[in-house]
Amino acid sequence: MEHVTVITHPLVQHNLTRLRDRRTGPQEFRRVLGEVAALMLYEATRSFAVEPVSVKTPLAPARGFHLSREVVLVPVLRAGLGMLDSILQLIPHARVGFIGLKRKETTLRAMFYHKSLPPDLRRFEVILIDPMLATGGSAVAAMDLLAELGAERVRLVNLVAAPEGIRKVHSRYPSLPIFTAAVDQRLNQKGYILPGLGDAGDRLFGV
Ligand code: PRP
Ligand code: URA
Repeated sequence: MEHVTVITHPLVQHNLTRLRDRRTGPQEFRRVLGEVAALMLYEATRSFAVEPVSVKTPLAPARGFHLSREVVLVPVLRAGLGMLDSILQLIPHARVGFIGLKRKETTLRAMFYHKSLPPDLRRFEVILIDPMLATGGSAVAAMDLLAELGAERVRLVNLVAAPEGIRKVHSRYPSLPIFTAAVDQRLNQKGYILPGLGDAGDRLFGV
């Protein structure tokens, strides 16, 4: 699948399996989701642009690199919050924007209830974070908002993605890079991913 990177690293797959396991309670779920998010971030940021810089070590000049662009992390509430802290530990200078979206159970349409983002996203690398890509409605709504705010470089990080969601996102944003630990089989009649891991927000927060 073009523009979809499935992260097959053994630690990612090990942790994903723990998250899928129905016996994993909220406390462990929170911890493992954070761990897997950090591992996924390495892959998701591999193609970040860098610029050469020179520094002086205590002994001699050295050539190195720094990131060309500032980074904005955008977790989709609620479940995206479960991936935020550990990612922030890896990119502590990142800014953080928030998008609150809730899928209506009856229509599966995602409705906004919160938006707080830098006003002009043009100069940023944006990482959109949500553990689940199901119908793709939430991701498309979030992407539409980011595009309105000028975002030109966005990558989407989902722990689990359904083929239906990937198709929907790529039909509107064909070149959006998607990083995921698994492309699952399909959605069930209620719009849940099979086998998936259930309701990520509920499992994360125990509600
Ligand atoms: C879940 C999940 C995604 C969305 C995916 O959130 O975290 O944001 O569903 O579904 P979609 O691809 O069909 O839009 P939900 O709306 O249940 O809110 P929550 O995170 O507060 O539980
Ligand atoms: N949201 C979830 O949390 N899980 C799914 O399987 C689908 C949407």
